[in-house]
Amino acid sequence: MKRVAVLGSTGSIGKQTLEVLSHIGGYEIASLSANENLSLLLKQIREFHPENVYIRDPIDARVIKKYYPRINVFSGKNGLLDLTDIPADTCVMAISGFAALKPLLNLIEKGIDRIALANKESIVCAGAVITEKLKHSSSTLIPVDSEHSAIFQSISSNPRKFVSRLILTASGGAVRDIPLEELKTVSIEKVLQHPNWKMGFKITVDSATMVNKAFEVMEARWLFDVEPERIDVLIHRESIVHSLVEFVDGSMIGQMSIPDMRLPIQYALTYPDRKSSLVQTLDLSSIGRLTFEKVDIERYPAFPLGYEVLKEGGIMPTILNAADEVAVNAFLNKEITFGDIPYVIEKALSSVENKMNPSVEEIEEANEIGREVAKRIIKDIC
Ligand SMILES: NC(=O)c1ccc[n+]([C@@H]2O[C@H](COP(=O)([O-])OP(=O)(O)OC[C@H]3O[C@@H](n4cnc5c(N)ncnc54)[C@H](OP(=O)(O)O)[C@@H]3O)[C@@H](O)[C@H]2O)c1
Repeated sequence: MKRVAVLGSTGSIGKQTLEVLSHIGGYEIASLSANENLSLLLKQIREFHPENVYIRDPIDARVIKKYYPRINVFSGKNGLLDLTDIPADTCVMAISGFAALKPLLNLIEKGIDRIALANKESIVCAGAVITEKLKHSSSTLIPVDSEHSAIFQSISSNPRKFVSRLILTASGGAVRDIPLEELKTVSIEKVLQHPNWKMGFKITVDSATMVNKAFEVMEARWLFDVEPERIDVLIHRESIVHSLVEFVDGSMIGQMSIPDMRLPIQYALTYPDRKSSLVQTLDLSSIGRLTFEKVDIERYPAFPLGYEVLKEGGIMPTILNAADEVAVNAFLNKEITFGDIPYVIEKALSSVENKMNPSVEEIEEANEIGREVAKRIIKDIC
């Protein structure tokens, strides 16, 4: 039995990870973590018998301890870091947001053999720090994001010198067909109706603005060590081809499946092996047509900002991430319109002075600055 930690086990990726683990077998659950969803964490404890758990609120931690005195229960500001000190063979990092950064760095420092990385904010903000740390660690990072899993599978053992381009595919999100003049004030309900994927609110809004794709370009840059100029994005409405690699001889290799996160999650756990999965196989004849289009920048004005901040480097990716998080929250709370989201991000980026080669502490500071600046911009709009 391998020991696995599932961090963010109460979230969309976390829950699907537990489903996949039950299906493939051969794992014992070392650790689970939630932020505030006590009832689901208690349910998962009953079902998966973890040795260690984390929940943010110490009062919730005491409730768990009362019912399960033999479990090590961590809570509070440093509890998550303490949880990542505990040895495991594999860790699935499915915590959302910037909060995953420090635990992820700790997992790499501890040399956890396999880190299946779903969280994107950490690599967006601290890609250089993470890749540098990985060079001195025995940990291997395997991507869970479907696009990066597709690239990981397509690149396979090919040396990087044979890779000419990475092509990330994007569904275009929920607003891809809404007339441009209606886009600025499109309703929350419409934005949350993703045509192909079932995901959390934040990532669904990010898909509609294509900030999510901007993040994925940044992730790809760091995960595969390919310069941004050689990373392209195509709108692919069907979400069947999850991404492609173009090689120097003109060959393109991509990975196809029906859109279901349980597949990339499973591959990140079983790689290099493959096992039967819970995912339906693809019937290409019933799909019939696969389409690919260029990204319309007028529809997705925040998307090119990803390339810009990658070029600028330093703390700018962190500012983009922080401003986006605040703007998406404000949109979901009906404080700003959908069309205000790119405005808030762009204005935040132009309001902050860059700092090159930031340390982890400076990245954390930039995250706070980005959030404060974005909140001020939103206050001015309201
Ligand atoms: N959903 C997808 O299909 C998908 C696809 C590719 C990549 N991703 C990436 O994977 C990550 C997770 O996404 P998700 O959709 O699963 O998110 P989610 O449904 O919002 O779940 C987030 C998980 O992280 C926990 N969490 C949130 N804030 C935390 C904090 N400050 N400290 C500790 N734990 C915290 C949550 O706990 P509570 O439940 O207690 O709040 C929950 O367990 C994100 O970075 C996302 O971009 C997601």
